[in-house]
Amino acid sequence: MFVTRQLPGDALERLEAAHDVEVWPERLPPPRAELLARAPELEGLLSLLTDPVDAELIDAAPNLRAISNYAVGVDNVDVEAATARGIPVGNTPDVLTESTAELALALMLGIARRLAEGEAFVRSGEWATWEPGLMLGRDLYRATVGIVGYGRIGQAVGRRLEGFGCELLTTGRSGGVPLDELLERSDFVTLHCPLTPETRGLIGDEALARMKPTAYLVNTARGPVVDTDALARALQDGEIAGAALDVTDPEPLPGDHPLLDAPNLLVVPHVGSATHATRGRMAEIAVDNLLAGLAGRPMPHSVNEDSLTPQAP
Ligand code: DGY
Repeated sequence: MFVTRQLPGDALERLEAAHDVEVWPERLPPPRAELLARAPELEGLLSLLTDPVDAELIDAAPNLRAISNYAVGVDNVDVEAATARGIPVGNTPDVLTESTAELALALMLGIARRLAEGEAFVRSGEWATWEPGLMLGRDLYRATVGIVGYGRIGQAVGRRLEGFGCELLTTGRSGGVPLDELLERSDFVTLHCPLTPETRGLIGDEALARMKPTAYLVNTARGPVVDTDALARALQDGEIAGAALDVTDPEPLPGDHPLLDAPNLLVVPHVGSATHATRGRMAEIAVDNLLAGLAGRPMPHSVNEDSLTPQAP
């Protein structure tokens, strides 16, 4: 069993009690060569969203019987290749819904009320006095908020926004308003869709041009849903009022990346699910998934269980 990073809490102890487990001890992800070197012996893999589990790796692991991804998103895993081999792929939905929704609200409030800018202003000693026109922002109260992707997290965001008296526009797999209408009418556009071939680059030049110049873009989904160059340009040109990002493309964003020179940008390091409780629960589910998959039982949370056909022994 290979676990690609130490996880919060004590869930891994249950895995270690049942199997031979190697946990990658470093802070940075195991290099590709390390993953490939372990592949021939690998029976179970507990991966993170930073580990590309692609067809090459899956092919190199003839004994692999279960992949458990420590995330709800599985865009780092070639699910098709795993399914073709009869390998279940687990994920960690539900437990991170509320934490991620909370961060989306924090980002909306943070960018619209200029929290990072205000903090830097105070710390730099520039704050001279209370001023009527100092650091004016925009209200979330009664704003029109467009939620792109109205699944578990999108709905959790929507529930919170009702408390702010917001008008909600939604779009997603199960309907809602057309995306163009959502972009044109929203004061905040918040992204909660998975990264798929259809959503990659969904928010590019054209989408940004449709947004109001007073509107904010918030992304807690996946970085590549937004075209980074297009966003940097839209912020530089004042085409939108600002962006608040938990996820970026690339990720991590290098310190000298041009996006960081754009004005009205609030960016945090992919921490949507980063609370003690949630990351611990994600570890429990990831371990439950791996234990079940290795025992030949259905995983409690799998993205491909329905597509798996029994494999010849
Ligand atoms: C996920 O689970 O997909 C998040 O991005 C990390 O918790």
